[in-house]
Amino acid sequence: MIYQVYVRSFLDSTGDGIGDLAGVRAGLPYLKKLGVDGIWLSPFYPSPQHDHGYDVADYCDVDPLFGDLAEFDLLMTAARRLGIRVLLDIVPNHCSSEHPWFREALASPPGSPARARFHFADGRGPDGAEPPNNWHAMFGGPAWTRIAETDGRPGQWYLHMFTPEQPDWNWRDAEVPAQFDRVLRFWLDRGVDGFRIDVAAGLFKHPELPDSPDPEADARTRDSVNPLAWNQPEVHDVWRHWRSVCEEYTARDGRERLLVGEVSVPSAREHALYVRPDELQQAFFFDLLSAPWDADAFRKVVSEAMQDIAGTGSTVTWVLNNHDQVRTVTRYGEPATDGSGLGAARARAAALLMLALPGAAYVYQGEELGLPEVVDLPDDVLTDPIFRRTGSRARVRDGCRVPLPWSGQVSPFGFTSGAEGVRPWLPQPEYFAEYATDRALADTRSFWHLYRDGLQLRRELPQLGEGDLRWLDTPPGVLAFVRGDGLVCAVNFATAPATAPVPGTPLLASGPCPPGVLPGSTAAWWIGDL
Ligand code: GLC
Repeated sequence: MIYQVYVRSFLDSTGDGIGDLAGVRAGLPYLKKLGVDGIWLSPFYPSPQHDHGYDVADYCDVDPLFGDLAEFDLLMTAARRLGIRVLLDIVPNHCSSEHPWFREALASPPGSPARARFHFADGRGPDGAEPPNNWHAMFGGPAWTRIAETDGRPGQWYLHMFTPEQPDWNWRDAEVPAQFDRVLRFWLDRGVDGFRIDVAAGLFKHPELPDSPDPEADARTRDSVNPLAWNQPEVHDVWRHWRSVCEEYTARDGRERLLVGEVSVPSAREHALYVRPDELQQAFFFDLLSAPWDADAFRKVVSEAMQDIAGTGSTVTWVLNNHDQVRTVTRYGEPATDGSGLGAARARAAALLMLALPGAAYVYQGEELGLPEVVDLPDDVLTDPIFRRTGSRARVRDGCRVPLPWSGQVSPFGFTSGAEGVRPWLPQPEYFAEYATDRALADTRSFWHLYRDGLQLRRELPQLGEGDLRWLDTPPGVLAFVRGDGLVCAVNFATAPATAPVPGTPLLASGPCPPGVLPGSTAAWWIGDL
C-alpha cells in the first residue's frame, strides 16, 4: 500500500502555511505507525505553481517553497531508516512555460530545433488566426495558444493539453527522451525507489495532429478521450525503456525500482498493455474510483480487472481517491454528508474491500482520517486552474486538497509551525477538529484504526497476498469473495442488514458487526472454512 503525500497540504515545518519536505520527514513516524509500504510525493520541483507543481520548470531540483536538495536527502535517509519506500511524481507529458527550453523556443524562429522540442504549428484561417486543430484542453478552452514572435507580430501556436502554462513536450524529438533519461538517473542516483508517472497515456500525439472526431466529447470530460491526443502506440516504447533503466539500478543492488502510471484509457484491456512484463509494474486502475456505490457495478469492475489485467499476469493497482477527485466519504454520501453518516460508512467499507483485493492499493492522504471534501470554499480562495479556465466549480479540485488537521481545536490544527496568524494555504473548516490525527489515534473506532488494522492483516495473512479471488453466491446488494484458502471479504451495499456469508465474529469489520449478520453499508473479513 502506497500513501500519496500531497506535499503542500501534509505538514508545514517552515511556518509559511504551505506543507514542505521537512514536514513530510516529520510525519514519517505517523505513516510508519499507520503501516504504509511507501509514499508517493506530489511534485516539489521548481515551478510557478500554476497547477501546483504539475508545471515543472526544473526537473532536477526542489522548489524553495518545499525545501532544497539537502532536505530531500534527509527525507530519503529518514524514510530508508523506517523502511518506507519513496516514489517521486514525474511529469513527462508537459513542462512549465517557465522551463528554460520553452523560453528558448519562444526566442527562436519557427522551424528551429528549439521549437521542435514542443508542438509549434502555424494557425489556420486568414493570417493563421485560428488554432492548428480543434482539440480542447483538459482544463477548459482550446489546446493551443498563439505566441508573439520575437518581432512582436502574432506568430505560431503551441499545444498544451492542460493549461497554457503547461506546454506539451514533443516526444518525437530525440532531445526530449534524452532529457528524461537524465532526470530519471538524477533521482535514481539520489536513492529514490521509483516514480509515479503523470499522464502516462499521454506523451505522443498523432504525428499529423489532425482534428479530433468529436471535440465536444473531449470538452465535456476531464478524461482523456480524444483518440488522437492520447494512448498512441509509441508511448509503450518509452515505458519499456524506462523499465530497463530501473532494472539497471535493481541489478546493481537488488532493490526494486517501481514505475506506476497514471493511465486513463478506454478499457481494462487497453490498460493491461501498460503493465506488460517489460513496461510499468503498476498503473492506476481508476474504474473502482468511478464506480457508483452499487454491488453490481463494483463486481463488474473487479471482475474485469481480474480477467483483463491480473489474467495477463500483471498486478491490478486499485485506487479510490487521489488529489484530483472528490473525497471518498463525500462521493459516497447521499446527499453530501458531514462525514459522519452514510458516506463515511460506505467509505470505510470500500477501504476494506480494496485492501482485500489482490494487487496494490494507493491511498490519498487524509483518507485514513475519513476527511470529507470541503465543499464550501469561497470562490476567492480557489486555486485550481480548472476554476479559472472553465469559470465553473463543477470539477474544481481544491476541496480535497485542504491541509491536514493534526491536533487541537482550531485551525491550523497543528498543520503549520508558523506564528499565530499564519494561515494554511487553503482555509480549514472548523469541523476538521473532529478529524485531527491525535483524535483519530486515540479512538479505536476511527478510520485510522480501520486502515491500520487492515494494513496489518494484509501484511500478516498470506491469503491477502498475490493470487486470485473467487466470488461467493450472495443475495442482491451483497458482494463476497474468497482469497487464498479461506479469507472471506463481504460488503453489504444496501442499507438493510444481510446474513453474513460466514458464521462467527469477523476478524475485522468496517462497523459494528454481530456474529452472523452483515449490517448495511458494512464490509467485513472472516477466516472461513469454504
Ligand atoms: C494529472 C495530475 C493532475 C494534474 C494533471 C496535469 O492528472 O494528477 O493533478 O493537474 O495531471 O499535469
